[in-house]
Amino acid sequence: MSTESDSVSGETQARFEHRALQAGAFDRIGVRYDEAFPHKEGQLAAGEWLLSRLGPGARVLDVGCGTGVPTAKRLADAGLLVTGIDISPVMLELARENVPEAKFLELDLLDLDPVQEGFDAVVAFFSLLMLPRRDILPALRRLNEMLVPGGLLSLSMVEIDLDDVPFQFLGAPVRVTGYLRDDLRAVVEEAGFTVLEENAISYAPATMQAPPEIQLFVNCRKGAS
Ligand SMILES: C[S@@+](CC[C@H](N)C(=O)[O-])C[C@H]1O[C@@H](n2cnc3c(N)ncnc32)[C@H](O)[C@@H]1O
Repeated sequence: MSTESDSVSGETQARFEHRALQAGAFDRIGVRYDEAFPHKEGQLAAGEWLLSRLGPGARVLDVGCGTGVPTAKRLADAGLLVTGIDISPVMLELARENVPEAKFLELDLLDLDPVQEGFDAVVAFFSLLMLPRRDILPALRRLNEMLVPGGLLSLSMVEIDLDDVPFQFLGAPVRVTGYLRDDLRAVVEEAGFTVLEENAISYAPATMQAPPEIQLFVNCRKGAS
């Protein structure tokens, strides 16, 4: 007979294996990530959107920071206090080299402590797409709790209707999730954000034989409209 504690430990084990798969993939990808995505126009534009609203000394959390380029670097260069989190030790090592003035922590975005001091902004560029949909709404709610009142969120996802599907990314096995734009807006609003701006960008990775993907960038403010 299975008990409630069996199902909790089954869930914990599943999450552990999922995280190990995703972190292992980005450990293997390492510097090849920035070679495949050398331009990152969407992240640059979203960074400028934040910088037009935040001054030096503002606290920003970069969720799934990757190599720290361009986002953590651009924000730190402008005098913002950047904390980056990621589950891949290799990506974190690159981020620390690229942005020595920021703080980087090995941490799963699902393990963020919501009682931490408030951040003025959170960015999550192509990191929520590494979670199954069932974890995305709770993750967004947790990010919402970590913001000061009226704090800003800028996030991006690939526009595709998929939930936790196996995918070969730059030669490494990962699982990916996407949304169509109306569904992404709905989940962001359900988590307690007001959407201020949405941009869709067609992007072809430099080193992948693949058709261009549509990248959705959503800029939001904490709180209902
Ligand atoms: C597609 S990359 C995006 C990197 C960077 N944000 C950018 O825009 O270039 C996704 C990053 O999210 C990290 N990641 C995946 N799942 C995560 C999780 N549960 N918590 C924190 N980081 C995660 C990966 O290790 C990887 O560095």
